[in-house]
Amino acid sequence: MNFYTRKWIKPEDLNAHGTLFGGSLLRWIDEEAAIYAIIQLGTNRCVTKFMSEINFVSSARQGDIIELGIKATHFGRTSLSLACEVRNKITKKSILTIDKMVFVSVDEHGLPWAHGRTTITYTDERLRED
Ligand SMILES: CC(C)(COP(=O)(O)OP(=O)(O)OC[C@H]1O[C@@H](n2cnc3c(N)ncnc32)[C@H](O)[C@@H]1OP(=O)(O)O)[C@@H](O)C(=O)NCCC(=O)NCCS
Repeated sequence: MNFYTRKWIKPEDLNAHGTLFGGSLLRWIDEEAAIYAIIQLGTNRCVTKFMSEINFVSSARQGDIIELGIKATHFGRTSLSLACEVRNKITKKSILTIDKMVFVSVDEHGLPWAHGRTTITYTDERLRED
């Protein structure tokens, strides 16, 4: 699991109880996962298809620094499956886990498109290929 993005929890990210609002977290996760899928598949024509059960393991508070982790778990023909974890950057305590998120690469008409990728890349070179 690679933890690329860090977030510093601010007042506008909180719910009515003063802890991190789940909707804010899911928005960050979806964007983080989409960027990861774009880099892996080498195309920005990717859409979120599926998200499995979301486990809000523990809460985060204003002032906490959290980090978002994503890992590719399966390259399909047109899809890419990912696993996700969010944790406190300092204590490493888990805040959220998602076992499976699926992104699908699509063509110019929005139809599933075979991406041809089978392995994880650790660079963004695929985005510079023809
Ligand atoms: C993404 C979309 C084009 C896929 O269309 P579809 O008719 O389901 O396509 P397919 O049945 O051919 O499935 C495409 C891939 O998704 C996978 N898939 C489909 N439904 C799935 C599900 N419920 N869970 C996991 N994977 C799923 C298939 O296994 C297939 O993967 P593979 O080619 O690697 O084997 C279509 O569902 C869509 O446009 N959805 C809206 C996407 C969207 O707007 N997202 C939010 C904004 S980004």
